[in-house]
Amino acid sequence: MADDDYDYLFKIVIIGDSGTGKSCLLSRFTNDEFSLESKSTIGVEFATKTMDISEHKIKAQIWDTSGQERYRAITGAYYRGAVGALLVYDITRQSSFENVDHWLKELREHADNNITLMLVGNKSDLADTGRQVSIEQAKEYASESEMLFFETSALNASNVEVAFKTVFERVY
Ligand code: GTP
Ligand code: MG
Repeated sequence: MADDDYDYLFKIVIIGDSGTGKSCLLSRFTNDEFSLESKSTIGVEFATKTMDISEHKIKAQIWDTSGQERYRAITGAYYRGAVGALLVYDITRQSSFENVDHWLKELREHADNNITLMLVGNKSDLADTGRQVSIEQAKEYASESEMLFFETSALNASNVEVAFKTVFERVY
């Protein structure tokens, strides 16, 4: 299949605190790769992946920027045209969950009103030893804020594909 052979193009953004695993989720989903030495993103990176949903070819263009203010891209351009957003926190870092409020606020200021939102608790592979955010707590927050919710692991690939695909199905 040619790379430009698709029926719909969807822009999705990934946001959340630095170090939560946004770039690793992106490379797991688009290349099935993972790095323990992933470096903080500078500016904006993006990757695409084409998949079949309900007999249509959907091309997803997924944008990734740093959670660190000093490395961030221009906010307005980052969110413009996005139909879905993944808000990522790290289940082993409570502060990254508390900051989801901040990311939601930024989204509401800059993104389209009917954007599909998904809360993503990443690093589920560390749940046994390092969990700081319970699934119940996250689910409750997600439902109050009308977000879909998954726990994922970019490291062992758990739920990564289904999380992204659920966003695309909802958008579609
Ligand atoms: P910024 O670009 O600075 O905003 O960070 P980021 O959210 O893109 O984080 P990144 O993907 O670079 O990952 C940060 C660190 O977490 C790296 O050391 C990764 O190897 C590690 N990491 C990412 N995902 C997982 C995961 O699912 N499990 C574990 N154990 N480590 C992970
Ligand atoms: Mg990054």
